[in-house]
Amino acid sequence: MNILIIGSGGREHALAWKIRQSHRCINLYIMPGNPGTAQCGTNINLDLHDHEGIKLFCLKNDVDLVVVGPEAPLVDGLTDAFRSDDTAHISVVGPTAYASQLEGSKAFAKKFMKKYKIPTAAYNEVTKENISTGYDFMSNIPGPYVLKADGLAAGKGVLIINDLEEAKSQLSEMLDGKFGKASEIVVIEEFLSGIEFSVFALTDGKNYILLPEAKDYKRVGNGDTGLNTGGMGAISPVPFVDDILWQKVINNIIKPTIEGIHLEQMDYIGFVFFGLINVAGNPYVIEYNCRLGDPETEVVLPRIESDLVEVFDKLVNGHISDCHLTISPDAAATVMMVSGGYPGDFEKNKIISGYEDIISSLIFHSGTDYFNQEIVTSGGRVLAVTTLHRDFKEAVKISIRNANKIMYENKNYRTDIGFDL
Ligand code: AMP
Ligand code: GLY
Repeated sequence: MNILIIGSGGREHALAWKIRQSHRCINLYIMPGNPGTAQCGTNINLDLHDHEGIKLFCLKNDVDLVVVGPEAPLVDGLTDAFRSDDTAHISVVGPTAYASQLEGSKAFAKKFMKKYKIPTAAYNEVTKENISTGYDFMSNIPGPYVLKADGLAAGKGVLIINDLEEAKSQLSEMLDGKFGKASEIVVIEEFLSGIEFSVFALTDGKNYILLPEAKDYKRVGNGDTGLNTGGMGAISPVPFVDDILWQKVINNIIKPTIEGIHLEQMDYIGFVFFGLINVAGNPYVIEYNCRLGDPETEVVLPRIESDLVEVFDKLVNGHISDCHLTISPDAAATVMMVSGGYPGDFEKNKIISGYEDIISSLIFHSGTDYFNQEIVTSGGRVLAVTTLHRDFKEAVKISIRNANKIMYENKNYRTDIGFDL
């Protein structure tokens, strides 16, 4: 098979690394990719908004399968574009625009969860016209207050505010365009107190398989302090997810979600990322994503021993229920090396060195680029350093030791991934 991966981060490097190992993969392309993915296949620089250009590339290069990493192209309708007659023979792992609203619209996701009785925080959907119902809703729940921009806001559209008056004023600012069009609708939620974890399903819209669960660490500082980031590290498996919790996740959340997708006749072939929170032993959905997580992918895929291309092949041909994933008993930990200053302002183009001889960890490129024949930093999140070990604490230690060896100006990383487990 010839395969195209869409995206350019650590998740896409991990996908490329895993797909490259399959004997079923002949040519592998990554669009646009990064210097890490270039070790697994050929990077292709095309504008991801140019659906016709991407289709043309696939037709010219006999691409059989497209795997979409990030949410934006999905919400933007890339999968829908491939459903037209000329490219209907090309399979896409990634849902259509309508189905991607499970991530692309918080209001859509909440309505869906309510309809299918999936446990989630109580909520109220507000626009400028009915802001007073939002004020009333907040007055009747205890704080803190969770305000979510309905649309995609690059991971920044959620505010958690303790004070009621401050929450009201932020609600008004959001509806006035604080996050542009994304916050024309705001979902207000009651605050759930618990510990978060992530579960991933691969579905054809009717049947599904589950991938290993993971926990990511979103705050920039040790001890879960400081600003929220895209993710500073992750662990898989998650020790507190025991059989009892796992059964509740399956029965109360996964099954009704997949059934809802089926009953709503969504054209959904791809990953469902369940962002969950364990509230006193009961799982609730914080959010759905229509893709794999980053950096969760960098710990989930290394634990999967099965051939991922075989799995995708079964998925797109309607046989996903015949799949039985073989999972490594080892734990995986990833430590995300970031640019100093991230998630605020940071400098780019810092030369990276010291990674070439590392063999005890996998190094996935997240925000890197070429500059004057050197590999340099190009983003806030730079490299994910993943280690497999039977003891996750040992895996974290090895990743940190290797992160220590990798050099670029102003590097930063957390040294306590998994501290709470
Ligand atoms: P989301 O984009 O919906 O995942 O929200 C971003 C983060 O905000 C989540 O990962 C949680 O840490 C937090 N969060 C969102 N909704 C809630 C909630 N209802 N209760 C507590 N924390 C929340
Ligand atoms: N690590 C969280 C996400 O990918 O959304």
